Amino acid sequence: MPVAPTRFSVLSEEFAADPYPWFEQLRERTPVHYEPALDSYFLSRHEDVKRVLTDHEAFTTQTLQVRAEPVMRGPVLAQMTGAEHTAKRKIVVRAFTGPALQEQMGAVRANAAALLAPFLARGRMDLVGDFGKPLAIHVTLDVLGLERRDWRQVAAWHGGIAEFITSMTLTPERRRHCLDCAEQLEAYLLPVIERRRHHPGEDLISKLCTAEFDGIGMSDRDVTALIINVLVAAAEPADKTLALLFKHLIDHPGQLAEVRRDPGLLGAAIAETLRLTPPVQLIPRQAERDTVLAGTTVPAGATVYCMIGAANRDPGAFTDPDSFDIHRADLGTARSFTAAAQHLSFGTGLHQCVGAAFARAEIETVSAMLLPLLDEVRLSPGFRYREAGLYTRGPVSMPLVFTPVHLDGGPAGPAV
Ligand code: HEM
Repeated sequence: MPVAPTRFSVLSEEFAADPYPWFEQLRERTPVHYEPALDSYFLSRHEDVKRVLTDHEAFTTQTLQVRAEPVMRGPVLAQMTGAEHTAKRKIVVRAFTGPALQEQMGAVRANAAALLAPFLARGRMDLVGDFGKPLAIHVTLDVLGLERRDWRQVAAWHGGIAEFITSMTLTPERRRHCLDCAEQLEAYLLPVIERRRHHPGEDLISKLCTAEFDGIGMSDRDVTALIINVLVAAAEPADKTLALLFKHLIDHPGQLAEVRRDPGLLGAAIAETLRLTPPVQLIPRQAERDTVLAGTTVPAGATVYCMIGAANRDPGAFTDPDSFDIHRADLGTARSFTAAAQHLSFGTGLHQCVGAAFARAEIETVSAMLLPLLDEVRLSPGFRYREAGLYTRGPVSMPLVFTPVHLDGGPAGPAV
């Protein structure tokens, strides 16, 4: 059972094991929780989180200079403001929406089919390690226009970079490892950027290389930072969302049966998964002036963490907030992937996620493929489900068992 919030710490083992039981007390008793070891404030109420993410004068993304820039090798989108932000954001948005998105879903299907194939006849697969993680990297490499055959190496570098951004504390050894990963990825990208400047294609890297602002192109440093930005932002939450969706559906067999019968409900199931268990749990900001939130003064210069998991379960924002309900009236599937979303899993305001529509399409496409193939799907017997991560959070692994499918020669299986 959670102890009184006065003794509460976001760095405790209990909170790391399962943060959700703590959120109600935090919202009610210490909605602006000060964490001395991090000299930072943690906000848990929907109203306060929304205010911080939309009041761009009082709260900025200045924290990312320390949290992200060293491994991104330059400034990321979330650090930018004004015309530069609008223009660069537009290039990325175009690569992930509209006609580009439709085209990419064909590649998502092909990637997913190739990754699934070896596991179908076995009737068992780790949804995270065997499928979700490689898929997230493959898909992102495709959009960027990077070689899929290098995915293991890129995934390892991505792991180090993500660790740097999402760790609340890092030993000097881990910090060095993360920075090494970033340096090696940068060294891998620079010749690619050089080639695309001379022979641009249709991929996102080519678009970044050829874009101009006020007649000036982007430097290698700027392009590198945006590539790493997209790689981490797109790949990090994707496998977590897919695994969390399947966990909720397996835990709610009635809703799983409904989604199987009507895959049109998948959008609602994904939106509800994102609300109830957001893969991005914390969004950092810096207070630019003394600001009073829920009766507590957050001083100028302080780091503030928006607790998205807590805000999304605020009864002031959602009815019966701790339950998984794909039919909940107060979510709204369509708006859940837009700026009008009531949940805050994609952030809100100027820096709201540019990949929300893409993430929905990707998870929807892949889940619609998986559901008919994974008949009688359940967690592997004896498996102890465990999530990890304070900043981004998801299942560490998720071994599933299902009725084996024989695509060649065996009992007729569905085509992938
Ligand atoms: C379920 C999947 C995803 C989740 C939960 C998610 C979550 C988020 C969140 C919470 C933010 C706000 C960060 C802030 O305010 O500081 C964000 C921003 C961002 N996301 Fe996503 N994201 C997802 C998928 C993607 C994908 C597929 C892309 C591909 C491009 C992407 C690219 C970005 C970028 C570039 C930003 C920064 C936007 C800006 O500052 O203007 N995300 N995302």
